[in-house]
Amino acid sequence: MDETDPHLPTPRAAWIAGRAEQSDRTLAVHHPFDGDEIASVCVPSADQVERAVDAAASVAREFRGTPAHVRAAALDHVSRRLAERADEVAETITAENGKPLKWATVEVTRAVATFRFAAEEARRFSGDLQRLDTDPSAEGRLAVTRRVPRGPVLGIAPFNFPLNLVAHKVAPAIAVGAPIVVKPAPRTPLSALLLGELLTETDLPAGAFSVLAVGNEETAALVRDPRLPVVSFTGSGPVGWSLMDSAPRKQVVLELGGNGAAVVCADWPDLDFAAKRIATFGNYQAGQSCIAVQRVLVDRAVADEFVPKLVDAVANLRTGDPHDPEVEVGPLVDEAAAERVESWVAEAVSAGATVLVGGKRDGASVAPTVLADVPREAKAWREEVFGPVLAVSVTDGLDDAFAQVNDSVYGLQAGVFTRDVGVAFRARAELDVGGVIVGDVPSFRADQMPYGGVKGSGFGREGVRSAMNDLTEERVMVLTGLEL
Ligand code: SIN
Repeated sequence: MDETDPHLPTPRAAWIAGRAEQSDRTLAVHHPFDGDEIASVCVPSADQVERAVDAAASVAREFRGTPAHVRAAALDHVSRRLAERADEVAETITAENGKPLKWATVEVTRAVATFRFAAEEARRFSGDLQRLDTDPSAEGRLAVTRRVPRGPVLGIAPFNFPLNLVAHKVAPAIAVGAPIVVKPAPRTPLSALLLGELLTETDLPAGAFSVLAVGNEETAALVRDPRLPVVSFTGSGPVGWSLMDSAPRKQVVLELGGNGAAVVCADWPDLDFAAKRIATFGNYQAGQSCIAVQRVLVDRAVADEFVPKLVDAVANLRTGDPHDPEVEVGPLVDEAAAERVESWVAEAVSAGATVLVGGKRDGASVAPTVLADVPREAKAWREEVFGPVLAVSVTDGLDDAFAQVNDSVYGLQAGVFTRDVGVAFRARAELDVGGVIVGDVPSFRADQMPYGGVKGSGFGREGVRSAMNDLTEERVMVLTGLEL
């Protein structure tokens, strides 16, 4: 791109300690569907990054002392402004990420709620009282425990939810009074920068937030910077674990991938519903969600009836231009991602899998695909596809189904279609995942509930209240000489 062209819009400014600043270097943002350049953003200089981090460290003590009503009001303000500008924000998400407008709109609605939940939690976050006179040596003593921020947070966000997964870093940090430096994904920085704009409309102290669209090298330096003792990362496993290894003394929260399983049990009464939900949530955002359905485990008793319904539901998904309000499945984030998914399908097929529908790529778009008989060593079963591909396996009873769910390096969420409460409790006890969704797909997430994984899916929990716990540590004060 010719940066001297006077017809191009000014690059979007970075937010350095709450102030908009231009810089010499820019990053072009492209629309995944047609590759058109839609905007450019400023890549902060080393000096700007330093000022952002320094401001976060300098304001940390003041910020953690701000009254709850100030932080809650700021969070409520962002929630309200996102709702007021919902159409524009959804359009921004679709433009940079390529997800269909209908899913971008859902994402905005969720982000509105995430900030609202954070405002509510900021008002509630009070601590505990514990009487200590349960032991003769502590008569008349009372422990008053509060959670205090561990310090400024580095929030590293992925491309697949460019607004709401940034909200899940920013909102809990503000709720507890921890400054945050946000590093958005390089392909999707626009929603995070827009959020920065809304934050500048609040009374938060300068330095409470910065949004820095920096590259990998600068990010590695930020991860090591002792002034940012908390790192909250959402993204791929290899990056997340190496980041944790590079900062062993920090509080590192990792939300990594998954290869979500949906189990369809023999007792499930509505196979049409299960087929439609699995088709939709294997393919929403072109499968680019850590809790998208990837593996479908259907009981032999219902498989002959269920599989054609699933194939039909997938074949009927409307694909195309993500700006078309009717479109359900758009492109992947870029052509390289689509080529990778295509090659994983090809690998599965050459190892013996059958394509029941889909399997074709056109530019950055991959047709919604259902595979059967995928060998267990194929990437389309074993790894995280992060694309619109479902792999169906027929199971013999619950023991077999649950063993297959657990036969994964990941453990984020699982969905179990059953009406049997005993099976639901068994699933919760036996499945090695962070969350079990009973009667629906693993892709269900409410933004206030704990969210995170076990095994290769990460460490720590998001969900506003859980994230607030991860960003803080307990501090106890003991009062003496009391009549309890
Ligand atoms: C993720 O991909 O980890 C987030 C899923 C969601 O927030 O729905």
